[in-house]
Amino acid sequence: MRVACFARRLVATMAAMASPPSAVLDRSAITEAIPLIALRVPAKKCGKFLGDSKIKAGLLNMPRRRNIVPDDAQPGAGTKLVLLRPEVTDLELSSAPDALRACAREEGAEALAYTLRLEYADFTADQVLRRLLPAGVEVPTAFETIGHIIHVNLREEQLPHKALIAQVLLDKHGPRIRSVVNKLDSISNQFRVFPMELIAGDPDMRAEVRQNGCVFQLRYDAVYWNSRLEAEHARIVALLRPVDILVDMMAGIGPFAVPAAKRGVRVFANDLNPASFEWLEHNVRLNRVERLATSSCEDARVFLRRLCAPRTMDGGAAEGAGASELLVARRKAGDGRVHVAMNLPASALEFLDVFSGLFREGAWHGELPTVHCYCFSKAKDGAAIDDARARAAAVLGVSLDGRSEVHVVRDVAPSKLMLCVTFVVPDEVGWARGAARAGGRGDAGAAGVEAGAHGGEVDARRAEEGETVPKRARTAPELSAPGACTGR
Ligand SMILES: C[S@@+](CC[C@H](N)C(=O)[O-])C[C@H]1O[C@@H](n2cnc3c(N)ncnc32)[C@H](O)[C@@H]1O
Repeated sequence: MRVACFARRLVATMAAMASPPSAVLDRSAITEAIPLIALRVPAKKCGKFLGDSKIKAGLLNMPRRRNIVPDDAQPGAGTKLVLLRPEVTDLELSSAPDALRACAREEGAEALAYTLRLEYADFTADQVLRRLLPAGVEVPTAFETIGHIIHVNLREEQLPHKALIAQVLLDKHGPRIRSVVNKLDSISNQFRVFPMELIAGDPDMRAEVRQNGCVFQLRYDAVYWNSRLEAEHARIVALLRPVDILVDMMAGIGPFAVPAAKRGVRVFANDLNPASFEWLEHNVRLNRVERLATSSCEDARVFLRRLCAPRTMDGGAAEGAGASELLVARRKAGDGRVHVAMNLPASALEFLDVFSGLFREGAWHGELPTVHCYCFSKAKDGAAIDDARARAAAVLGVSLDGRSEVHVVRDVAPSKLMLCVTFVVPDEVGWARGAARAGGRGDAGAAGVEAGAHGGEVDARRAEEGETVPKRARTAPELSAPGACTGR
């Protein structure tokens, strides 16, 4: 006897409340009856159906569901039921794999109709929400988890159903997940912390995450954290050798800094957000890298200028005397490369002006630092890489063509990319006018391309601050590509 095809045989008895939106989740209403074919088999012969993969291919294969179940219609008869895949639709088993049909015949199995009853626990969050949300309301599928917290970005039409959505997410991802928060608005504040509301669960926003071999603790509503940057953090950390130094100007709670220090790299990490700074210090201690990581809470420009300022004998910063803190640390580490991370993509490019004339004779020697500066770009038609490079160059006031790399980190929105521009601070930008270039390259003062609008502003400010601003040439000089950055 042929039973109707699978699609028609799915008898949905669940109460799929399409509307109105309900804050109360009736779990008992989420059921489904699936007609199957079962084989009645003596209990001791059930193993025959499990040993061979060709036979097993015809058996029910559903998460959390057994394919051999008690034979409730014949208690005490010593038989069990072997449940077949929903695709097997007839009692003659003509739609079953040949091996299964042959085994059933050999063992004298009786084929019979069976109804598999699914309950709330059998469905995934996606399946439940597909049933509960009204037509036209998309099921939220992409969300981030931060320790025990799920963070969703609900759309306008999903908001009336937020309580329901959050409850299902808690049910399906618990007990590990205890809280669901919704982003209320795009990030617009300086510390890159987005406004959020708790839509279900525990209001405790102190979370613990693991990334790149380190443990991080944080207060999600007070600091910036993005689990999707793990690969980017790992990419930068992998560039570092123990003889190198990492200067993280916008360090957040330490996802570059802590793994770098764990790798044996001397780290200077800074963040302007006092909460981030506290968690950064906490994470440095938690991961036992206090010996290598120094944290501070300053504006990024102030921080970098302090590290690069010549030091007096007693350690204070005073013009004209002694090596900078950064140079001293670099010598101690083994004279490797200094990497500067600037991950504040909304505005990090603007901070590049800090490198103008930052390095002075005596306070620095050798190759200038390698900068990894992040930005967003909405440039169309594959122009984002050139756009990022050109904007960085405009702030520096020199061309970066042939001496920078641009890495696409991720797409943050349709037609908006996050990118990382990597380059060695060009000599003609970094060296203060008149500074000796021990190990440096050529006279920086006269080099450089025609300043872009931004470069001009930088010069104006430097002049205001009493600095001697190098003249900019009107043509791009041929500059050697810096060691680490093969230009594209
Ligand atoms: C996008 S987050 C990146 C944090 C971390 N580097 C990461 O990869 O997760 C940018 C960080 O820059 C910090 N920040 C914003 N303005 C700053 C400034 N002027 N100086 C230093 N840090 C700043 C914010 O507090 C925030 O933690």
